[in-house]
Amino acid sequence: MKVEPFHLERFYVDYEFSVGTNISASCGAVTTTEDILKHSGVEAANQYISLDLDYRENRGDEALRNEIVCEYENLNSGDIQITTGGSEAIYLLMRTYLEPGDKIVTEWPIYQSLFQLAADMGVEVLSLPLLAEEGYIPDPAKLKKLLLKNDVKMVVINHPHSPTGSILTAELQREIVELTEKHGALLLSDEVYWGVFYNKADEVPHAADLSENVVTIGDMTKPFGLGGLRIGWLATKRKDIIDRASILKDYTTMCAAAPSEFLAVLALQQKEKILKRNIEIAIKNIELVNRLVSDSGGKLSWIEPRGGYTGFVRLNLEGITVDEFCLELIREKDVLLLPGSVFGDPSSFRVGVGTKVEQFERGVSLLSDFLAGK
Ligand SMILES: Cc1ncc(COP(=O)(O)O)c(C=O)c1O
Repeated sequence: MKVEPFHLERFYVDYEFSVGTNISASCGAVTTTEDILKHSGVEAANQYISLDLDYRENRGDEALRNEIVCEYENLNSGDIQITTGGSEAIYLLMRTYLEPGDKIVTEWPIYQSLFQLAADMGVEVLSLPLLAEEGYIPDPAKLKKLLLKNDVKMVVINHPHSPTGSILTAELQREIVELTEKHGALLLSDEVYWGVFYNKADEVPHAADLSENVVTIGDMTKPFGLGGLRIGWLATKRKDIIDRASILKDYTTMCAAAPSEFLAVLALQQKEKILKRNIEIAIKNIELVNRLVSDSGGKLSWIEPRGGYTGFVRLNLEGITVDEFCLELIREKDVLLLPGSVFGDPSSFRVGVGTKVEQFERGVSLLSDFLAGK
């Protein structure tokens, strides 16, 4: 099978671990093992040290699934399949639910694997545009048109959205759930940024709580800065979907890593604290970008993110592409931004507002110097 390169990940393979100041990452500020164990007590720390490193349950540790379902109103632990990050959740679902010749609708721009895995299988991908002038929010009338004209098997959304940080209102979320169901398609709601809303009032339910016809993806990576655990999940009432994902997982990773599952349980028990810290960081960083944009004399513009840890900044300069701008910035200032071309939108670059403030401040200051010379 043909595999199209994952442009975002290839870009990071080249630069993420060699550039001095990365201000483009998509996660909340990184949490350490020490952070987690320090707040879990001596007994938990001792249990971690003496943990047996045998294989684990394919479905995921029962204690972990029990912690995760506390997040959902209408699901129980049997409705969760633990995966190796949100990445494996997307893979298992796409490969077991779709067939060549099917059609799916995905928001655009969007994280590449949310459409590429399907496209590589011979699935036709139809785009639901997220436009800056519409606040990067999907237009349900456009979705309805696509669903009326095509026999669509799956609709894919992602909010809080990467790279733009847009969110849905509860009304719009419900409308999309109902529209999708009415037209016989499955809704995949990528909610890896679950809980990351800057205003409590903006928080919406998990889409999987609203209908049996929805699969939600969650992870420990984004909200808590725990990408190294590689823990994610599929959540749905559809037993057939969970069962098929579980069968394919026997061929991919079989089960999650024991230390990761253990630490994920502890982190979920401290989630309010970690999330509060990370959201406060994001709010401070957003202010830094607001200042950068307003001091840029029109060279930059953006729509402030409302959730998640990323924002999409438009570059309004003649004679230089965003790709060239980002590469020059690496060469001259050792600062990493993510060009929007990796999302198929070359007008803008992504900033990672979850980055620890000191690092983000340094990167923004270097970016500001660089921009002044343009
Ligand atoms: C929208 C979205 N979904 C899924 C993933 C994959 O998440 P994970 O790192 O947990 O595999 C990412 C990672 O950047 C993402 O941005």
